[in-house]
Amino acid sequence: MSGLFSPFILKDVTLRNRIAIPPMCQYSAVDGLTNDWHRVHYASLARGGAGLVIVEATAVSPEGRITPGCLGLWNDVQAERLAQIAKEIKAAGAVPGIQIGHAGRKASANLPWEGDDHIAAGDSRGWETISPSAVAFGHHLPKVPHEMTLADIARVKADFVAATRRARDAGFEWIELHFAHGYLAQSFFSVHANQRQDAYGGNVEGRSRFLLETLEAVRSEWPENLPLTARFGVIEYDGRDEETLEEAIGLTKKFRAGGLDLLSVSIGFSTADSNIPWGAGFLAPVAERVRNEAGIPVASAWGIDSPVIASQTIEQNQLDLVMVGRAHLANPNWPYQAAKALSKEEPSWVLPAPYAHWLERYSTAE
Ligand SMILES: Cc1cc2nc3c(=O)[nH]c(=O)nc-3n(C[C@H](O)[C@H](O)[C@H](O)COP(=O)(O)O)c2cc1C
Repeated sequence: MSGLFSPFILKDVTLRNRIAIPPMCQYSAVDGLTNDWHRVHYASLARGGAGLVIVEATAVSPEGRITPGCLGLWNDVQAERLAQIAKEIKAAGAVPGIQIGHAGRKASANLPWEGDDHIAAGDSRGWETISPSAVAFGHHLPKVPHEMTLADIARVKADFVAATRRARDAGFEWIELHFAHGYLAQSFFSVHANQRQDAYGGNVEGRSRFLLETLEAVRSEWPENLPLTARFGVIEYDGRDEETLEEAIGLTKKFRAGGLDLLSVSIGFSTADSNIPWGAGFLAPVAERVRNEAGIPVASAWGIDSPVIASQTIEQNQLDLVMVGRAHLANPNWPYQAAKALSKEEPSWVLPAPYAHWLERYSTAE
């Protein structure tokens, strides 16, 4: 049996296997509310057999949405609707997780299939953006954000705490803080975005402050017995990779000391001037280094969609959890296919009976 199908225990939570579905925005919400699309989407992903399903980036405030179609968790109606999704994920045997975040200077964008660029100035669908410094991302996201005041920083941290409380009350059992992908928290850490002269900028200690304080604030609200995790871009592929990695690993040690239970290792995406070596599982060795040097369980994604490679990352102790994203959009039952590809087991332990019965009975695969 592949290690990919061994349970994973973190705090009081047991995942039925090492396959996790990473957060993937559906850009299909109105006013930050989930609807039938999200309900069906997440239930079908959970029924496919993954151990963990993480609901897409969910904004802690209206201005923290990437696009007008993004989910939110700044009011109780949003929380009530999300509670239904958490319930359906759990009923399907997966652990319900949610990613909460703030898009910072990348907010106020058009849906990916409507341009993926900033909503034009003067278009009433857009809004003012905030970031550590008044520096635009550039390229397709040219809007210049407002430099955050200390009051803004305090407000956003409070928004993270309120969203955490709502996520907890909605029944989520795994929370992931979005500290990655060039959004607000990553921007505080990144020299590409943070040019502040005060305690929230400058050296790595200053650039880490917002992330550590947010973690600390959330820690006090999130139950001790449930996994508190973060997704963090530890590398930019911008030519100063060793320096960024060393800083990121140092910060990850502080995250761990501050109560973080697992890091989802990802890319910074703070600059468009990067040269990312896309390829199957290319980030796994980076995640392995973070795991070894920071002494924390890790997950990672990016092109780990072949069952053999996914299995190897677990067997070789590179990852504790494998995040399989787009392959699940192509086939929500990816874990079933992986199980068949990796072993002689029957599908009934991966899929629910209404599917598994027929696949076992009439399968010609063996
Ligand atoms: C449609 C789509 C939406 C995404 N939304 C998010 C998101 O909400 N939060 C996040 O951290 N990453 C997001 N990502 C990145 C994925 O979580 C994942 O890292 C990426 O798809 C690479 O993994 P894969 O090669 O298995 O697809 C998104 C990716 C896709 C394709």
